[in-house]
Amino acid sequence: MADALRIGIAGLGTVGAALVRILQQRSNELAISCGRKIEIAAVSARERNKDRGIDLSGIAWYDDPLDLAANAEIDVYVELVGGANGAAEASVRAALARGLHVVTANKALLARYGVELARIAEKNGALLNYEAAVAGGIPVIKALRESLTGNHFSRVYGIMNGTCNYILSRMEKEGLSFGECLKDAQRLGYAEADPSFDIEGNDTAHKLAIMTTLAFGSEIAADDIYLEGITNISIEDIRAANELGYRIKLLGVAQKTDTGIEQRVHPTMVPLDSVIAQVDGVTNAVALESDILGELLMVGPGAGGSATASAVLGDITDIAKSRPGAQQVPVLGRPAHLLEPYRRAQMRSHEGGYFIRLTVADKIGVFANVATRMADNGISLESIVQRSQPDGEIGAPVTIILVTHATMEESVRKAVSAIRAEGYLIGEPQTIRIERPKTV
Ligand SMILES: NC(=O)c1ccc[n+]([C@@H]2O[C@H](COP(=O)([O-])OP(=O)(O)OC[C@H]3O[C@@H](n4cnc5c(N)ncnc54)[C@H](OP(=O)(O)O)[C@@H]3O)[C@@H](O)[C@H]2O)c1
Repeated sequence: MADALRIGIAGLGTVGAALVRILQQRSNELAISCGRKIEIAAVSARERNKDRGIDLSGIAWYDDPLDLAANAEIDVYVELVGGANGAAEASVRAALARGLHVVTANKALLARYGVELARIAEKNGALLNYEAAVAGGIPVIKALRESLTGNHFSRVYGIMNGTCNYILSRMEKEGLSFGECLKDAQRLGYAEADPSFDIEGNDTAHKLAIMTTLAFGSEIAADDIYLEGITNISIEDIRAANELGYRIKLLGVAQKTDTGIEQRVHPTMVPLDSVIAQVDGVTNAVALESDILGELLMVGPGAGGSATASAVLGDITDIAKSRPGAQQVPVLGRPAHLLEPYRRAQMRSHEGGYFIRLTVADKIGVFANVATRMADNGISLESIVQRSQPDGEIGAPVTIILVTHATMEESVRKAVSAIRAEGYLIGEPQTIRIERPKTV
């Protein structure tokens, strides 16, 4: 048997502790499958005396991940600390700079410094594996980076934040408000104490930026993403969507267009009978559309200690099985110097269907006026309905719900602002984009 692969693990929280447990419990079968033992040589976390439910005897301890990455005698540095900067960034840079292979689950770090880190890795002959950074346990990085090489992708999208999907699923099933579902998500440990990163869409954006690069061969552009979270989705929107044959999901979508790449994260209506509409609760789903393969949809656990550790373990065993001197998989799917500059397609030229919900004063001519403003902007309507409030008196506000055929975002914005100028709108209009899966 070849020499053991010696790994150093920084971060012994949800993911790190689960990884240590699996490595220890399955050490014999992993040795058989990899042809060598995987040995945890060193670990690092903040509190040495914390009870983590794992056995760390005989394993070297480092207070600082940077020291572990720079000094320990290891073959692979596993970074499970988290955060785009600080100890995670410094230690990953140090490890790669000395040619150590790195495995990380850190989407924030990769979204910000991925291209730079890929260059450092390639220069020093190190591998940088990050399967757990996108959609947790779903092997989407391997699919894009290795399995589907040669495919031309047209669109990649998915439900990549379990917290948001949990909230939207519960709002729909139980008729609860956004606030009530968020509180439950926090109580159950699905949402952080400060949930803004999840519910405003930033977490999905980080994952999307990484997928975009792998699918389209462009540099990571995490700051160039159109972002809309789920905080203003109401139970009325969810009900209206259902009645029209749709379900609302927070999707991250990257799509190739004639003018560049659209990267967008926003609440999206998907047809009720599509597979992605059935993805409930904290589960994630990623869809890849390409010319050779067609459409691939992967559904599975997107977070949690063991699901995420499973992806990290896969990255480690890939390194354990790799032959010295063999051709390495490029970090971002192609050598970093061959990545193309990111060319952003403007959101106003996005083309698709739209759901628009307006609350208006019940006056003669308003309904016809709304339809006219749509027509003025070349928008063709799939449906338009007016609903009075239950038990609404004459003159009480009414709701008008429109669904458009495929149209330009700019036309929708102009039509809505023309309606706004008429003065009969009550409150803010709601606009939700519609996304249609190719086949499933
Ligand atoms: N949790 C998930 O479901 C999930 C899913 C996909 C990806 N990820 C990613 O996986 C990574 C780890 O997430 P997690 O949920 O396991 O985080 P976590 O539970 O908060 O654990 C973080 C660990 O890092 C240690 N740490 C933090 N700052 C440190 C520092 N300056 N020096 C040394 N150690 C430090 C902590 O030490 P102490 O324990 O001593 O405080 C803790 O053990 C993140 O990048 C996250 O985005 C997580």
